[in-house]
Amino acid sequence: MKEGSHVIVLPFPGQGHITPLSQFCKRLASKGLKPTLILVSDKPTPPYTTDNDSITVFPIPNGFQEGEDPLQDLDDYMDRVETSIKKCLPELIQDMKLSGNPPKALVYDSTMPWLLDLSHAHGLRGAAFFTQPWLVSAIYYHVFKGYFSVPSTKYGHSTLASFPSFPMLNANDLPSFLCESSSYPNILRVVVDQLSNIDRVDIVLCNTFDILEEKLLKWVKSKWPVLNIGPTVPSMYLDKRLSEDKNYGFSLFTAKSAECIEWLNSKPPSSVVYVSFGSLVILNEAQMMELATGLKQSGCFFLWVVRETETDKIPKNYEDEIGEKGLIVSWSPQLEVLAHESVGCFLTHCGWNSTLEGLSLGVPMIGMPHWTDQPTNAKFIEDVWKVGVRVKVEGDGLVRREEIVRCVGEVMEGEKGKEIRKSAEKWKVLAREAVSEGGSSDKSIDEFVSIVC
Ligand code: UDX
Repeated sequence: MKEGSHVIVLPFPGQGHITPLSQFCKRLASKGLKPTLILVSDKPTPPYTTDNDSITVFPIPNGFQEGEDPLQDLDDYMDRVETSIKKCLPELIQDMKLSGNPPKALVYDSTMPWLLDLSHAHGLRGAAFFTQPWLVSAIYYHVFKGYFSVPSTKYGHSTLASFPSFPMLNANDLPSFLCESSSYPNILRVVVDQLSNIDRVDIVLCNTFDILEEKLLKWVKSKWPVLNIGPTVPSMYLDKRLSEDKNYGFSLFTAKSAECIEWLNSKPPSSVVYVSFGSLVILNEAQMMELATGLKQSGCFFLWVVRETETDKIPKNYEDEIGEKGLIVSWSPQLEVLAHESVGCFLTHCGWNSTLEGLSLGVPMIGMPHWTDQPTNAKFIEDVWKVGVRVKVEGDGLVRREEIVRCVGEVMEGEKGKEIRKSAEKWKVLAREAVSEGGSSDKSIDEFVSIVC
């Protein structure tokens, strides 16, 4: 490897994308590369270095003025981000070349496939980074190719879809945008477009590990130059003997770390249900009421992340009523929480990062998917990896309080819980093996380094 070899890494500006790509930067740095991480931000700061100067962070504007709401219109958001990147990135690459430190590759988020041509125009290899698993990308690929027609309704129960190496899926197992009645046609276009130029991509990176998606591996590797490099969970959480900087990524939120850990320290082993719906999911008031009541009635301790923008939906006087039984915080240090011995179960929306984190840390899960890839992840959590159960949704789209109580009981105390804990332990070991020296993901990262240098 040449001294000073470096690559540019560019995540889509959402927490579920920034976390795995910034972690990947750290892995590359540990292999001797010098990555430049570009963060598209509403308040860009001057560039800075981190991790003993091994990573340069280069914030660029997202194209919005102060006071404008970027989340009003997805098309407008994507357009402005694209315009800003197309303006800033070529200048940055030029500066790097002039300073004698030309980048060798651009690792870009697969949701921005137009970055492939930009990479090639500047003489860089283009590496698409998929933040969702192959089981989801394979479905989007079938839609892109026209091999699979999007169903017309979301809440059908008949078996609908058969994909190579998959269990049979019904409509509720498909990514949520894949139905004609979806309210998010623009997002459907974005997620399917990820696969639009995959046949031309130089390297395809995915935050998963080989054995986790073993059945799909042969198919994806026969089609594309795939390197599975996950889970991007830092090794210190996978193996407690390792110490490492606890700053495991770049966060758009501020975690209430001390409060969470102190509270967890006061609880018995495996007694706490950790509840989090990631950075984007919005629950309606009726669902918040059912969930709040179900958690209270479960009788278990619970640590519940309710983002600041959601707190007004917490039932009145709820925190007084639950007392020491529960703690509600606006953001948690999720990996530290999942690695804590007091946590016995993870009630999750099944975002891919949360799914991988729960699975890698051996925490049994209750899947309560909301939208996007989460229903498909939940299907695999329950039926393929068998590390959790999935809540039943009523015809009106709500998960009732009794169902929350039932699932918590089943995972924390039931017979099924014992089996789930066994599987969870198995996957924890396999995830650790994948990223350990000589493991499948570690070798994939080495291969990536040798290709780009
Ligand atoms: C989104 C999509 O929902 C997900 O399905 C897709 O695969 C990636 O983008 P998000 O909804 O935020 O992401 O969920 P998730 O993928 O789970 O990512 C959330 C991240 O935030 C995780 O890495 C998690 O550890 C972190 N987090 C969440 C915290 O650090 N603290 C919290 O309190 C909650």
